Order: sequence, then structure tokens, then C-alpha cells
Amino acid sequence: MGHLDPKGGAVWVLGAAGQIGTRWIQLLKARGISVLAPTRAQLDLTDLDSLRTYLLAHSSKPIQAIVNAAAYTQVDLAEKERNIAQVLNAELPGTLAKLAHQHNVPLVHYSTDYVFSGTGTKPWVETDPTGPLNFYGETKLAGEKAILATGARALILRTSWIFDGHGRNFLRTMTKLGRHAQAKPGQKIRVVNDQIGAPSFAKDVAAASLRALEEFRGSAPEIFHLCHAGACSWFEFAAEIFRQTQLQVDLEAIPSSQYPTPAKRPLNSRLDCGKLKATFGIEMPDWKKGLEECIRENPDL
Ligand SMILES: NC(=O)c1ccc[n+]([C@@H]2O[C@H](COP(=O)([O-])OP(=O)(O)OC[C@H]3O[C@@H](n4cnc5c(N)ncnc54)[C@H](OP(=O)(O)O)[C@@H]3O)[C@@H](O)[C@H]2O)c1
Repeated sequence: MGHLDPKGGAVWVLGAAGQIGTRWIQLLKARGISVLAPTRAQLDLTDLDSLRTYLLAHSSKPIQAIVNAAAYTQVDLAEKERNIAQVLNAELPGTLAKLAHQHNVPLVHYSTDYVFSGTGTKPWVETDPTGPLNFYGETKLAGEKAILATGARALILRTSWIFDGHGRNFLRTMTKLGRHAQAKPGQKIRVVNDQIGAPSFAKDVAAASLRALEEFRGSAPEIFHLCHAGACSWFEFAAEIFRQTQLQVDLEAIPSSQYPTPAKRPLNSRLDCGKLKATFGIEMPDWKKGLEECIRENPDL
């Protein structure tokens, strides 16, 4: 689409208080781009009629793009709160894609490694068959399909294992548990060692997404994989977190079978990001680098 223009109108960012959304707002503001980013209190996204009314009320100003960083991201709870997950993850993306189409602006939307079944060991490419194992994954896949069906100019970015210095994520859970365990010698932290993926720093994901948006020349929706390079298990991720934060923790590797959760997780969550590199020249650094930067930025994690 070319570079976003500080004089060219607002970018709508939904889910602006989330991990990736917060980073989008920072990036856009740093570039002097005006942002329309309703909070949950201003706009409940489960109410799609309110969304249309809200956006119509603000549509007198020109817009340049729509970024959907909102989602129902609580994977286990999604098994129970099915209606909410369905509206946010499956229906909202289609509504946004239609709006983007009407306004003739591009949409950036996020999807997930959880659209795959997790079989095998090879990183998944965009064209691989999907097969979600849990309801969250099903709704995210339905969201992708809803966007594809509109024909809107949209980037559907599948990412994985997002972390940052704020929000609900594995990094913050581990540092919290690590501090507790350090204060109580003999306490073990058990982490699964058979789910493999790429931890991805929300800041780097948002920056790469913005670059992709500006380089995007397509006129139809397209799926790309976008995550950090390298891969590890949750156990290896935890070990690296404790190494980098210098927390002395007794860590134990366990199989997923010893950590039952309401939602089943894929074992192989690796995403092949070759298409992103070939199309936009974007290559993400190794996940350990992203973790280093995040910890440097957030020393009190
Ligand atoms: N987190 C991961 O590990 C991961 C992995 C792969 C893909 N993804 C995808 O990446 C995208 C961004 O993920 P994230 O981790 O940045 O998400 P997040 O931190 O959970 O943020 C989600 C945002 O959605 C907002 N939201 C949820 N329900 C809402 C509602 N009813 N009305 C208004 N706003 C609502 C939340 O608002 P509040 O702040 O008010 O709660 C929050 O700002 C999502 O599409 C997700 O599926 C995430």
C-alpha cells in the first residue's frame, strides 16, 4: 500500500490495550499517524452492531488502514465461553474485512499456529491443511475464512507464542512463578517439553506487521506466517527465561500428558515464515534475541 502518511487519515486499531495492539499504537504514534483505538469500555466488540455504529460515527475522517489486534485469546476458557470466542474470533474479522473493503483500505488481522493439528515435525507453510485441536483454533480458522470470503485487501498474519512485558503471557507467568519458587527452596516448576513453537515478542511482531502492510501490493486477502526464527519447547523457553533473568529455579520437563488442560494444544506449532521473507524481505531474528530485548526493556519482569 506504500508508506502510511501522517497526513493521510487515521488507522483504526482494535484490541489496542492487548500485547500486539499496544505495540501498534506506539509505532503509529512514533510515526505521527493518527489512531482511532476505542477501549473495551468505549466499545464492546462482542456487539457487532455497536461496532458498525461506532465506526460510522467516526467515518467522517479519512482512514488509511484497519488493524485487528483484538481477539478472545484465553485458549482454555474458550472451550466454555464459546459464544464470546465465536463472535470475537470468527465473526468480528469478517465484519472488519467488509468495512475495510467498503472504505477501500487494507486490513491487518492476526491468526494463530493453533489452526494446525500439530502433527509431524516440519514447520507449517501457509498452504498446509489446517485441523485445529481446540475451540479457540476453530474460531480463529473461521475468522480467517470469513476474511478470505470477502475478497478484501487483507493481511492475515499467523503468529505464535506472543510475549511482552505486559499482558497475559508465558514470560510473565514464569517470572512470577520463578520469584515464588526462588523464595521457597525445594519447590519445582514443571513445564511441558513436547510442544514446540517459536516464542514471539509482540514489539517485533507489530513492527514486522507494519512493514508488511506498507509493502503489501496485493488486492485480495492473503495469509502469511510471522513469528520469530528458531523454535523451542515451553520447557526450553522457561529455561531461557530463567537464564536471562538470572532466577535460580529448579525446573522439570514433563510431557503434555502430565499437564492436562481443557483445550488440547498442538505438539508441532512451528510456522515456516519463508513466504514473508520472499514477499516482503522480512526476516525475524531468533526468539532468544526478542526475549533479550523484552527483558532489557522490562527489567522488573
Ligand atoms: N497471545 C498469543 O500467544 C497469540 C498466539 C498466536 C496468535 N495470537 C493472535 O494475535 C492477536 C493478538 O493477540 P494478543 O496476545 O496481543 O492479545 P491480547 O493481549 O489478549 O489482547 C486482546 C485484546 O482484545 C481486546 N478484547 C477482547 N475482548 C474484547 C471485547 N469484548 N471488546 C473489546 N475488546 C476486547 C482485549 O481488551 P482488554 O484489554 O480490555 O481485555 C485486548 O485489548 C490475536 O488475534 C491472537 O489470536 C496470539
